Amino acid sequence: MIVLGIETSCDETGVALYDSVRGLLAHRLYSQVRTHAEFGGVVPELASRDHIRKLVPLVRTVIHDSGVDCSEIGGIAYTAGPGLIGALMVGAAVARSLAWAWGLPAVAVHHMEGHLLAPMLEPDPPQFPFVALLVSGGHTLLVEVAGVGRYRTLGESVDDAAGEAFDKTAKMLGLGYPGGPALARLADQACEPERRFPRPMTDRPGLDFSFSGLKTHTLTALAQSDRGDRARADIAAAFQDAVVDTLLIKCRRALRQCGLARLVVAGGVSANRLMRERLGGMAEQDKISVYFPRLEFCTDNGAMIAYAGCQRLLHGGSDGLQIDVRPRWPLDSLAPAA
Ligand code: KG4
Ligand code: ZN
Repeated sequence: MIVLGIETSCDETGVALYDSVRGLLAHRLYSQVRTHAEFGGVVPELASRDHIRKLVPLVRTVIHDSGVDCSEIGGIAYTAGPGLIGALMVGAAVARSLAWAWGLPAVAVHHMEGHLLAPMLEPDPPQFPFVALLVSGGHTLLVEVAGVGRYRTLGESVDDAAGEAFDKTAKMLGLGYPGGPALARLADQACEPERRFPRPMTDRPGLDFSFSGLKTHTLTALAQSDRGDRARADIAAAFQDAVVDTLLIKCRRALRQCGLARLVVAGGVSANRLMRERLGGMAEQDKISVYFPRLEFCTDNGAMIAYAGCQRLLHGGSDGLQIDVRPRWPLDSLAPAA
């Protein structure tokens, strides 16, 4: 089955065509980074307007790139939440309208399920069950995954998401939006990481996270420094080190608690190089397997939505004609795909 996937939950317009037999046929991404950069963060109304401008031309281009005829498409998948309501509405309205015009089933996809299944697009995908660490701009979740749609949340952030902490800390350090990659680049310039920041909530049992204290710690360190290039790089490195180490400690704990030896790491922050290196090292040490999406599928994209939707459409799943989106949507409430 060939599925058209549409992602518009935040500031990237993502479109892809996925074939359950041949794999990914084509995918394109339009990033709104330049639109939002001057405001230092995503402006929801501008995001919606940009999706309106870019989505239909992008759908056309992806279909053209793939060499597939519209009549070969068997279903449409679109992100229905969580995310910015206006942005989600654009993707949902276009997906639903195309499905109605082409007489196809359409399925609403949970954005974090898309992230969670993104490593399935790689040549050596993980087998179920596994533990997933989902680290994006809006969510930090540890999930036990028994199959598609069979999720049990083990832990989550009680305040800022990991990506949000990266973005806010980057802003404090005078870096532009999006902050995560900029902070990682600054950290690369640190000579010798001299500071050690705390690893929040690792000294007590449990799998929840908290990153807002680390942000305050960074602010204090910055206020006590000369704010020079060297000090800022050093602080960025100490912050990144603390976030990555905290995530690693909790992943190890979750794997032991579930008795599992497979870990999936996905969402924007999984593009972080230090994170990939450290978790790779942990995998070797603990004799577990760790799976990451390729870099371009760590952050938001249409391919993961096409893949996730396809798994549901293949088992007869589809949603009604109404255009329904959910800015908030607990992952655990999803129904199994089969
Ligand atoms: O998954 P994503 O593209 O969008 C959401 O669903 O939120 O994640 C975006 C987040 C942003 O907070 C961004 O700063 C962070 O991922 N991010 C990174 C890196 N690349 C993206 N954080 C740290 N290091 C990176 N290399
Ligand atoms: Zn995302």
